This record gives sequence, structure tokens and C-alpha cells, in this order.
Amino acid sequence: MEKELEKLEAEAKEFLSNLEETSQIEDFRVRFLGRKGQFSTIMRSLGSVPAEDKPRLGQLANTIKAEIEQLFEEKTKDLQSQSAHLGKKNLPDLTLPGRRPAQGTLHPVTQVMQETCSIFESLGFSVAEGPDVEVDYYNFEALNIPAHHPARDMHDTFYVSDSVLLRTHTSPMQARVMEAQDPPLRVIAPGKVYRCDSDITHTPMFHQVEGVLVDKNISFADLKGILTVFTQKMFEKDLPLRFRPSFFPFTEPSAEVDIACVMCNGVGCRVCKKTGWLEILGSGMIDPEVFKMVGYDPKVYSGFAFGLGIERIAMLKYGIDDIRLFYENDQRFLSQF
Ligand code: DAH
Repeated sequence: MEKELEKLEAEAKEFLSNLEETSQIEDFRVRFLGRKGQFSTIMRSLGSVPAEDKPRLGQLANTIKAEIEQLFEEKTKDLQSQSAHLGKKNLPDLTLPGRRPAQGTLHPVTQVMQETCSIFESLGFSVAEGPDVEVDYYNFEALNIPAHHPARDMHDTFYVSDSVLLRTHTSPMQARVMEAQDPPLRVIAPGKVYRCDSDITHTPMFHQVEGVLVDKNISFADLKGILTVFTQKMFEKDLPLRFRPSFFPFTEPSAEVDIACVMCNGVGCRVCKKTGWLEILGSGMIDPEVFKMVGYDPKVYSGFAFGLGIERIAMLKYGIDDIRLFYENDQRFLSQF
């Protein structure tokens, strides 16, 4: 009996030391400590040992059982805390603050485009859109630009074929709008335009917004008024502004509008090419020849048109000194807007 007890003690200790998973805890309990377990079986057999050995063997059995029970408890605690720890490692901690997805911003050109349109909409203009791939007729002919005009130079215009090209300005929309609608009208046409040109103030693709207003008794004063209101709203202050006499085949008289260079405050820098001024738009009173081509009577109606460069305005508004930054898609640049 003594031997059996020692054997059982060794067996139980060995089993315990090999216990590695909480699922084995119950196996051990049933096999050694349960009512039908090995300790109970030995205790029951105490009844048949000689009376004089009973106290000694009984005490020995109790001591060994107590020791095994204690080891078993410790092992159980160990395993349970270990598995709780593992569980923590594998499960997400729901109390941690979440990670917000990075949010993009509208491209500065898009922002200025939208702002430009909304200023003109507030002045009663409606928005029209037309094709980027344009026919020669609307891009040039209908705007009183005959075949020999320098604007048709191969170096400026991207031709698709002899009579199809990428529009070099949004002005073809003037002719398209006037063909489609009778006066009076106030329309702006935003969009992309294309020219074979590239330096710090030119990119091969850029954005313009064209404006046309036709009614009876429209004068140059109306043109000046609308464009002055626009620049004041866009730049939120009274920026020095100048109307400079100019020439466009589709307007007479014509004027370019310049804004004091905000990069150098009019002193002269590489952006304004040392002039102190930056041109932001071309404009003028619509030429009677253009009216005739769209079937308007120039004796009854008059009107003005303008075309403004969105990138130019964005550069002035945000103090950007190289137009190419808009198209490099550098996050460090774009995320500032
Ligand atoms: N289309 C001209 C350009 O891209 C700008 C322009 C000048 C538009 C005069 C107009 C205008 O409507 O009247 O350079």
C-alpha cells in the first residue's frame, strides 16, 4: 500500500508537470481527485489493511493527497492566468480610441473654380459646359479668328486632325451659347483648355471660365462693374486692379485685367516677370462680326465677354509661385488647402 501511494504520488506529479492546456485540468481532477479517482480508490482499500498500520498509512495518504491538491490548484491558476493573457494579446482592445481614415480635400484648382462659378451665379449667370475636343469652326472661325491668325500656330494648338483640335480657350462656348439661345443671356462656361506651352506660369492643360452677357444697352461700364465685383469678392479686399487696352479678334474694344502681383506687392519678381502685375483675364465688348455669325442683330444688342484663368487666380489667392505645383500631386502641397 505504501508503494502504491508513492507510485500514485509520482504519477500525479508527472501528469501535473505535463499539463499544458486548461482543457486537461478536468481530466486530471477526474482521474486523481474525483470520487471515482485513484486517491478515493486507495482510501477505500485502507479498510482492508491491518489495524496497526491504519493510522500511519491513513496519515501518509492524506498528506500526499493534500500535497497533490495544492499542486493541482497552483497549476490551475497558472494555466488560467496564462490563457487569459494570451486571449488579451489576440483580441482587439475595444477600449482603444479608433483611427480616423485620412480625409482628402478638394484640389485648390477645383476650389477656386467652384468659388468663381458661385460668385458669377450670385450675379445672375447660369453655367454651361461644352466639349474639350472642339472643331476649328467654334474655336477660331466663329470667333472671328481667320485661318492666318497666329493663335492657330501649330506651336500653340494641339490638333487632332485638320479641323478638330483641343480647345485652346473656353471662348468657343460664347458662339455655342449664342447659337443656342436668344438674348438676353448671362452665361458662364467653366472648363479645361489646352495649349502647347510649359513654364512656371503655363501648363499644357489649364482651366478657364468664360463669361458672356448680352442684352440691349450693355456698355463697357457694365463689363468693368461685373469684373470689379468679381475680383473684390474673390480676393476679399480692394486689390489694385487695372484694365489694360488689348486686342482679341472677337471683342472690340478689348481689355486685359491685371491684378497687383501679391508675390512681390507690385515691385516685380519672376512670377510677374518684373512688371508688378499679373494678368488674370481677357475681356471686351463682343465684336459685331461675332454677333452676325450667330445671327444676333448688332444694331439691337450689345454685350461683353471675358475669359479668366483659374490657375492664375489660385496662384494669387494662395501665394503660389509655380503653376506646375498644381499638377505634381504632392500631398504636402495639396493638403494645405
Ligand atoms: N479666350 C481668351 C484667351 O484665352 C481670353 C478672352 C479674351 C476671353 C477676351 C474673352 C474675351 O471672352 O472677351 O486668351
